[in-house]
Amino acid sequence: MKKLDVIVVGELNVDLILNGIDGFPVVGKEILADQMELALGSSSAICASNLSSLGLKVGFLGMLGNDVFGKFVIEQLEKKGVDTSMIIVEDDLKTGATIALSYGEDRAMITHQGAMKHLTLDDIESDKLHQAGHLHFSSYFLQPGLKGSLDVLFQRARQLGLTTSLDMQWDPAEQWDLNLQKTLPYVDVFLPNETELQKLTGAPDLEKAIQAVQDMGKYIVVKCGSKGSVLSYEKKTIEKPAFLNEDVVDTIGAGDSFNAGYIYQFIKGASPEKAQIFGNVTGAVSTTQAGGTNAFTNLAEVMKLAKEKFNYTEG
Ligand SMILES: Nc1ncnc2c1ncn2[C@@H]1O[C@H](COP(=O)(O)OP(=O)(O)OP(=O)(O)O)[C@@H](O)[C@H]1O
Ligand SMILES: [Mg+2]
Repeated sequence: MKKLDVIVVGELNVDLILNGIDGFPVVGKEILADQMELALGSSSAICASNLSSLGLKVGFLGMLGNDVFGKFVIEQLEKKGVDTSMIIVEDDLKTGATIALSYGEDRAMITHQGAMKHLTLDDIESDKLHQAGHLHFSSYFLQPGLKGSLDVLFQRARQLGLTTSLDMQWDPAEQWDLNLQKTLPYVDVFLPNETELQKLTGAPDLEKAIQAVQDMGKYIVVKCGSKGSVLSYEKKTIEKPAFLNEDVVDTIGAGDSFNAGYIYQFIKGASPEKAQIFGNVTGAVSTTQAGGTNAFTNLAEVMKLAKEKFNYTEG
């Protein structure tokens, strides 16, 4: 019996979210924001937190600075039951932060990556991976310390008997420099969104983008926002519409919540189609509350919300 169901490897940072802002910032001037919230940021942490809320045993491996933001991140993860003992805290680094200026549906964001830039393959030791049955990795382009070694990480995990999933997320530099051909053969569940997959493959539409990768990985699961998701495996392509939420609070972490739902069912041995539908459910559930983790307390609550709001009843 493994100590952990899932080890999540990825970036960690806080989000400082400002709302009700008096216009746009101008250099040399000061404007006021009516509301402010400090929240757990980072796609990897939101996914880890929600996997734990769904009832899995989850450990996190990432890098933080020895500072107030770092302590906050650990506190937030522990509140959700995530094992933080593998997180590396470096005295001479700063924990990353995103300052998000919210203007209605849209946000302007500035990120200082900080410690997340320094995680390398050497930090992800085999004995740590070995504690878990599944590896989930997220946000490749925010972690330059792992540049060029993602295939080695996934190969290592496979050799140790772990199943694997990858959400490489957006590339802020828009270089899309990731060798899918080398990496995807070691990835069980590949979880990009549709724009990311098109950028990565250079394909003109989603159908061609899926064709470009379908022979490389096992399950290709593409997130398409309010349209839902597309699953491709064994030459089949299955589209499932979203559980449309008429009154979205915000879509922060919808993709990471989808990942959590899909991985949860994958680990339980559910069919790929059931995992896809449950990913759509958890993505939609995430939009019912502010932020990426607030709608996730435990499995029973998620199922209650799913039934009441989206008429979804399967476990
Ligand atoms: N407005 C919505 N109503 C219902 N479900 C939604 C809505 N928006 C997103 N979802 C669900 O959440 C899933 C993931 O959302 P999305 O496609 O935005 O992922 P993403 O681009 O990876 O997001 P993120 O910005 O969190 O990385 C979708 O596949 C869909 O099932
Ligand atoms: Mg995403």
